[in-house]
Amino acid sequence: MKNISLNIDKALGIVTKEQILAQAVKANEWNATLQKGDGAGSDFLGWLHLPSSITAAELADIEHTAQQLRSRCDVIVTVGIGGSYLGARAVVEAMSNSFDWLQADRKDPVLLYAGHNIGEDYLHELCEVLKGKQFGIINISKSGTTTEPALAFRILKKMLEETVGKEEAKHRIVAITDARKGALRTLADKEGYKTFVIPDNVGGRFSVLTPVGLLPIAVAGINIHDLVAGAVAMEKATDVTVPFEQNIAAIYAVTRNLLYENGKKIEILANFYPKLHYIAEWWKQLYGESEGKDGKGIFPASVDLTTDLHSMGQWIQEGERTIFETVISVEEPAHHVMVPTDEENLDGLNFLAGKRVDEVNKMAELGTQLAHVDGGVPNIKITMPAVTPYYIGQLFYFFERACGISGYLLGVNPFNQPGVEAYKKNMFALLNKPGYEKESAAIRARL
Ligand code: PA5
Repeated sequence: MKNISLNIDKALGIVTKEQILAQAVKANEWNATLQKGDGAGSDFLGWLHLPSSITAAELADIEHTAQQLRSRCDVIVTVGIGGSYLGARAVVEAMSNSFDWLQADRKDPVLLYAGHNIGEDYLHELCEVLKGKQFGIINISKSGTTTEPALAFRILKKMLEETVGKEEAKHRIVAITDARKGALRTLADKEGYKTFVIPDNVGGRFSVLTPVGLLPIAVAGINIHDLVAGAVAMEKATDVTVPFEQNIAAIYAVTRNLLYENGKKIEILANFYPKLHYIAEWWKQLYGESEGKDGKGIFPASVDLTTDLHSMGQWIQEGERTIFETVISVEEPAHHVMVPTDEENLDGLNFLAGKRVDEVNKMAELGTQLAHVDGGVPNIKITMPAVTPYYIGQLFYFFERACGISGYLLGVNPFNQPGVEAYKKNMFALLNKPGYEKESAAIRARL
């Protein structure tokens, strides 16, 4: 089996290979710090050896539960926000047929998502679409107290119980939360739901390889063994014993930090494979929450190409030169589509006749890379041999490991997210949540 690979050749210029190699000792030290668990945020390093420590029994339990849900439901609503939904959605969207919901003969349940916004129309439309459907709920919240998923779950639970009765609803609801604390733990224990535990030492955005990601992914009919196997391979490939020159996580971490030090404040994660859209959403949370603190941090942005070349392309090519681009390149798509010949050739495309659509896409990718590099946008390339659970597992772990090293190189604690609380405090005060009376008056005075 191949591994995903990293190519930084087209990022060189503003930073040199020598400068990158000069950071090898530092990067290896930070990688060792992760391994030893004696750096900032070391209470949250459970993800580090998660792939290699998942047991067959744990996977079997997840698969058994997924099967139970699949046998009862045509639709599963995954309730969660941030790290409690993005990883699962990333895999499900990458691995599913783009038009799955239109296929009458589908064998896997449809996965829908809730609790990742507070959109009233979104919730109304979700409830409308669920009417008459056999649905179940996977409710995911590590803290068990997050407002968005709690609100969505309250509405969906009521609807499910009213539709199928409390007893049947119990078999269609699974809760994934803390082992002991939080409102969701209390509720799940009281109602007698099947539960899975998110380990204390795994933060939300690093939790995709726990039941948080694995259960919805298994429900969607995707092979979680392959996903974990890919992550295990990358755990080995980025281990502290691997020399810097071969350790793609360490090289990526160093390169992006050097680019940042040289004024490249924004990293754009680009793909030429539309189904990777949610991989980028997951990545943005991982890097945004891990590094954006203490007045520092690369801003993680993303584009789907070639689509966004027709919206963001101008900015990337000629806007403020504060960006670099990291492209996830897919070597081999799952299907072949050939460009047909057309006798009249009114669209002028006969020069492409007989070629695969992917050849056109690949030339667009290469052409874009050169254009952006010429325009002063350093380019890092990550190549996935194919979009499979195995390589997605590799990609997840690669980004997580690199994120740990990168955050330490930047000089922040990559495993906390204190800034996420600020809006919650204001919102609770404005909603008159008990306990926020004092803040309420002060905040209202500022409106
Ligand atoms: O990375 C994190 O810890 C957060 O972004 C969480 O994933 C997100 O806020 C959801 O939290 P919870 O799972 O506690 O509901």
